[in-house]
Amino acid sequence: MKAVAAFPKERRVRLIDAEEPKLASPSQVKLKILDVGVCGTDKEIYSFAYGAPPDGEDHLIMGHESLARVVEAGPEAAGLKVGDLAVLMVRRPCPDPACRACAAGHQDFCETGGFVERGINRRRGYMTELVVEEAKYVVKLPKALKDVGVLIEPLTIAEKALAEARRVQARLPWFKPGVKGEPGLGARAVVLGAGPVALLGAMLLRLEGFTTAVYSLEPSTDPKAELVRGLGASYVCSRETPLDELAKKAGPIDLVYEATGAAPLAFEALEFLGTNGVFVFTGVPGRKGPISVDADRLMRGLVLQNQLVFGSVNAPRAAFESAAKDLASFLKAWPLAVPRLITQRHALADFEAPLAGRLPGIKHVLHVGD
Ligand code: BGC
Repeated sequence: MKAVAAFPKERRVRLIDAEEPKLASPSQVKLKILDVGVCGTDKEIYSFAYGAPPDGEDHLIMGHESLARVVEAGPEAAGLKVGDLAVLMVRRPCPDPACRACAAGHQDFCETGGFVERGINRRRGYMTELVVEEAKYVVKLPKALKDVGVLIEPLTIAEKALAEARRVQARLPWFKPGVKGEPGLGARAVVLGAGPVALLGAMLLRLEGFTTAVYSLEPSTDPKAELVRGLGASYVCSRETPLDELAKKAGPIDLVYEATGAAPLAFEALEFLGTNGVFVFTGVPGRKGPISVDADRLMRGLVLQNQLVFGSVNAPRAAFESAAKDLASFLKAWPLAVPRLITQRHALADFEAPLAGRLPGIKHVLHVGD
C-alpha cells in the first residue's frame, strides 16, 4: 500500500510502498483511510522542523487528521463493526507508570513528554491506505459526517480548549454563555486567526451563544470573512482595525481563543482581555526570536482583573465524541459553510503542494479512498 513518509536524515518526503498492517490483538480494528487533513503541524514535519520517526525507523508516515472506515474488527473491538465510519485519535500514553495523567487515561496531559502521536511523534500516521488501531482510540461517527468528518480532529482542539475554559470559568457562577435566558448569554469572545482551528472554534462559540468576533489578517472581502459573517459572527481585519479599536467596539472581552501561533498578536490581545476574562492559547509558534511585551501592564491586568491564561494541546476521547455531536449541529445550522471549510481534495500522490503550504484556502485534504 502507498504512504506519504518523511525521511529526516535525507530531508525528503516521498510516496513509499509500506507493508499492510495486520490485527495483532482481538481488541483492534483495521481501517481503510478515506480522507486525511493537512495542518500546520504537517507543514512543519514536511520542512523537518518538528516530528520524529518511530524508534529504530528512518521514516515517519505522516498524517494525523483522519476519516476512515472499519474494514475488519477483532472480536473484542468494543463498539465498532465493519462498515462503521470513524476517526482515529492522535496521542497514545507514555509507558512511565509514574505519569499520573497517562495512567489515568489523560495522555493529552502527559507529564513526562514520553507520549507518542500518530503521524507526528514516533508513531506511524494516517497518510496511507490501511491502518490498525486499538478500538479505544477509534471513535465511531454518524454516516451523515462522511463529507466533512475529516474536520473532527481539528475541531477537537477547539472542543478541549473551550471545555477547559468552561471548566475554569465555573469559578464565575453567573457565566453561562450557552444557557438561554441566563445573564451570561451574550458573553463576548474574540477568536484570533481564521484557519480551520479558528473557524471551527468560532462555530463552537456561536453554538454556545457567544457574541463572537474573528480577528485575522485577511481583508474583510476575503471568502473566510464572508464565511464568518454567515455564522452570525463579526469579522475584523487586523490590517484595518487595531486591537484597541476592536476592544472598544466589542466591549469587555470575556474569552480570547487564540488559534494563530502568532505571539506578537496574542500578547497584544492579552492586554485587551476583560475583567474576569480567560485567554486560551492553542497555536504553536515556530521559533522566531524574542519579542518585547509590556509585562508590568499584563501582570497588573492579570492580578487586578482576576484574569486567567492557559494553553491547551491535543484532545481526549471525550472531545472527539463531543466534536462528532457538534459537527453534526454545525451542519444543521450552517449547511453551506461547513463543507466550504474544505478547500480542495487531492490524491495521495499529490501531497507536495498541500504539505509545502503553497495553496490558498482553508483546509486541504488528501483523499485516499471511498
Ligand atoms: C495536533 C495535536 C498534537 C499537536 C502537537 C497538533 O497539530 O492536532 O493532536 O498534539 O499537534 O504535536
